[in-house]
Amino acid sequence: MHRRHFSTATALTALSYSRVLGANDRAQLGYIGLGNRGDQVHDGFLEWGDARTAAICDLKSSYLDLAEKKAKDHGHDTPKRYADWRKLIEDKSLDAVVIATPDHWHALQMIAACDAGKDVYCEKPLSLTVFEGRRMVEAAERNKRVVQVGIHRRSAKFLQEAAAYVQSGALGKITLAQGWHLTNEWPTGLGAAPEGPPPSEAEWDAWLGPAPKVPYNRNRMYYNFRWFYNYSGGQVTNFGVHYVDMLRWCLGKDAPKAVTVMGGKYAIDDNREIPDTLQAMWDYDGVMMVFTQINANAAPGNALKTEMMIRGTKGTMYLNLDRWEVVPEVITELPLPQRTPVDRNLEKGYNPSKKPVLEARKSTGYPTAQPHARNFLDCIKSRAKCNCDVLTGHLSTSATLIANIAYKTRSYLEWDARAEKFTNNAAANQLLHYKYRPPWKLA
Ligand SMILES: NC(=O)c1ccc[n+]([C@@H]2O[C@H](COP(=O)([O-])OP(=O)(O)OC[C@H]3O[C@@H](n4cnc5c(N)ncnc54)[C@H](O)[C@@H]3O)[C@@H](O)[C@H]2O)c1
Repeated sequence: MHRRHFSTATALTALSYSRVLGANDRAQLGYIGLGNRGDQVHDGFLEWGDARTAAICDLKSSYLDLAEKKAKDHGHDTPKRYADWRKLIEDKSLDAVVIATPDHWHALQMIAACDAGKDVYCEKPLSLTVFEGRRMVEAAERNKRVVQVGIHRRSAKFLQEAAAYVQSGALGKITLAQGWHLTNEWPTGLGAAPEGPPPSEAEWDAWLGPAPKVPYNRNRMYYNFRWFYNYSGGQVTNFGVHYVDMLRWCLGKDAPKAVTVMGGKYAIDDNREIPDTLQAMWDYDGVMMVFTQINANAAPGNALKTEMMIRGTKGTMYLNLDRWEVVPEVITELPLPQRTPVDRNLEKGYNPSKKPVLEARKSTGYPTAQPHARNFLDCIKSRAKCNCDVLTGHLSTSATLIANIAYKTRSYLEWDARAEKFTNNAAANQLLHYKYRPPWKLA
């Protein structure tokens, strides 16, 4: 394959750095972030013979050693190691970049990759702020890049069937769609790690990147960063984005009209910043969406013990990681009986006249990174939209990010999704982005 060159230097757009892959070509992939999720996504790509682990970048050498070993075990050449992710993105031999760093890094790395002509697989949540997410959508469009956001339920066949079933209208008028994140982390939680000098200033600085410089705390780094707002939106964006996306997909809705949240750190005495108990509610124009996060009690949220539920007038769909099930409603067209002590027969006929209005059904499966990686590799070649393209990822992520703003401002926020602004709260609009620590700037 040949790189495409344009005759004038000014025509050197991102496209000129990218090659067009044919069906039999192997995509040369560069990985930024090979921790907990990066490793899983790497495994997902290693399943496919047309993906090559060509370059790797992470702050931990043990993670790089593992990734290199896995690549070599799959017959790949030794991948190039980069200490600085910007150098990896500059590597012209790469077709695509896989980003699985903490959320506060996604926008800078994804936009730089798009501007360098790379296609991008970016982990969820897409961004740390709504402003960043919109810039990421623009960067993909500007450079005509294929982007897959790591909301991998979108590539699970049994969940595609669930979404098609709900979209068909079979559940009747849907009034409520809810997701639960239920764990019991009481009493210890993360523990209260003390602040102090970092083991390595360079590593701490590279971790923080655009985030404010704060004293080192072990809990702010590897994996545990998701309990701190400078690097993550907490469980609303961590788990919530999977559920909001799945529910939004089923409902066929783009963006909410309003959001409000209540919650707090009620039970767990560690140094986390995010609440341990929270309820977010969105008005999706005639459907209420709810995300319930309870991290100090793990009792099931509903009768079928599933992580999501969609209630319609004709039935309820229960959705879990490994199954979904539709339970019919039983209804009657008789008017509600007026209860009176002098004639109990009036109410007695009501319940027996109820009948189920649809057929029960169920399905099983499991969403993994493999089919999502496959879909990305296919789209790199076909230039089609991925199952979770950047706009889809942005719409789901931004819904969760505005919920965090409602929580922080303790308010009911009306959302103009076109303008991506709140219409009733100027202070809340200030939280749609934050000031990056120099020298970091969004392109
Ligand atoms: N799709 C899913 O189901 C899923 C599951 C878990 C995590 N995630 C997402 O994956 C991302 C990473 O989460 P994680 O659990 O793997 O965290 P993690 O802390 O285990 O991994 C993050 C990695 O990023 C690396 N990193 C940080 N700054 C870097 C820099 N400047 N240059 C190079 N590497 C850098 C770290 O060294 C670390 O190994 C998050 O956005 C998270 O939301 C998605």
